[in-house]
Amino acid sequence: MIEGKSIFTRAVHAGERGPKPDFQPVSTPIYQTVGFFYEDIKDLDGVFANEREGYVYTRYGNPTNSALEEALANLEGGETALTFGSGMAAVHASLLAAGVKAGTSLLAAYDIYGATYAICSRLFPELGVRTHFVDVTNLEEFAKTLSTAKPVAVILETISNPLMKIADIPTISHLAHRAGAKVIVDNTFATPFLFRPIEHGADFCLHSTTKYIGGHGDVLGGAVVTSRENHAPLHEIIKMTGGNLGPTEAWLTLRGLKTLPLRMRQHCQNALEVARWLEGHPRIARVNYPGLASHPQHELAQNLFPPGFYGGMISFEVKDAAKEEIFRFMETLELIIPATTLGDVYSLVLYPPMSSHRALSPEERAKVGISDRLVRLSVGIEEAAEIIGDLERALEKSR
Ligand SMILES: Cc1ncc(COP(=O)(O)O)c(C=O)c1O
Repeated sequence: MIEGKSIFTRAVHAGERGPKPDFQPVSTPIYQTVGFFYEDIKDLDGVFANEREGYVYTRYGNPTNSALEEALANLEGGETALTFGSGMAAVHASLLAAGVKAGTSLLAAYDIYGATYAICSRLFPELGVRTHFVDVTNLEEFAKTLSTAKPVAVILETISNPLMKIADIPTISHLAHRAGAKVIVDNTFATPFLFRPIEHGADFCLHSTTKYIGGHGDVLGGAVVTSRENHAPLHEIIKMTGGNLGPTEAWLTLRGLKTLPLRMRQHCQNALEVARWLEGHPRIARVNYPGLASHPQHELAQNLFPPGFYGGMISFEVKDAAKEEIFRFMETLELIIPATTLGDVYSLVLYPPMSSHRALSPEERAKVGISDRLVRLSVGIEEAAEIIGDLERALEKSR
């Protein structure tokens, strides 16, 4: 095709679109392409018409993303999945796909992640949606709000951020469905290693794959796992609004996903050890960790999660500490990194009033129970004794 052509033409086409291989790469390659071509245009037409499987344009779908989507759907026990450029793009698209639009109402957990809270309390109300915030651990209040607000959707987290409250997803899904609402569960903190919301009635299970799924702190992304039926509106939304995950990011995330169970096992074992140690420390006023008997939903966590595993996230209050002391503590840590993320192989520490929950007013934070003495710890996969050693030294030195 290019023989005898000029250097300009050969530079563009040489080496591209070679013969179809009769081998399979062992690991999924990165399909770093925007478009896909078919020798027979009828095939392209068939893909556009949804009459045959295939790819036409990466905003509509890409084989690298599909590999990640299939893996996520499989691990979460859903029929399909779609990947997004960030967890927030996944939150936004799942709310729209669940039927949230002008004139409808929405029910959200009052202690949901800060940016999700902002979508529900500001962005959607400006577009004519009424949001009702509830404590989803109070099932009586939840059921009452369902019957008065008549929401089209409920959005909540399996393990809430940063107080680590556990939602009774099976009961909540049952109550919501009875009231005609779809259930969207952000499973970022739990991951399918601990809990699979779809298997317990949720309609949409979403992730910030930036966290445990990717796991290495090097790639932003989001995903929504759902049924074939719910997939159709979700796919229409991503085709229109384009919050796609790039193929290279999909590849990195897929690579991270392979070690999710290994990492989660270590995160959970380390976190339990760290939480127990923190609880016994004289300078710590309170520890929020579902694996501790002192946690208000410890029993529920035991019922929902595999025996002995409660996740890698902890928050704790330093006794009588002012903000300056908390900052000093965070700066004194050597192994644990003060960084605004979680779920990485590294141990990370964060001050919620400054970062994840900055969008909330001091009054809103107080209502949720996020005090100015609260520190959130994402326990990494390092040696537990060395994480504890770092905490012990920083607590001592930052007095
Ligand atoms: C529970 C939860 N959901 C969603 C998000 C948003 O994810 P992303 O930062 O990938 O947009 C975060 C981010 O921290 C989160 O913690």
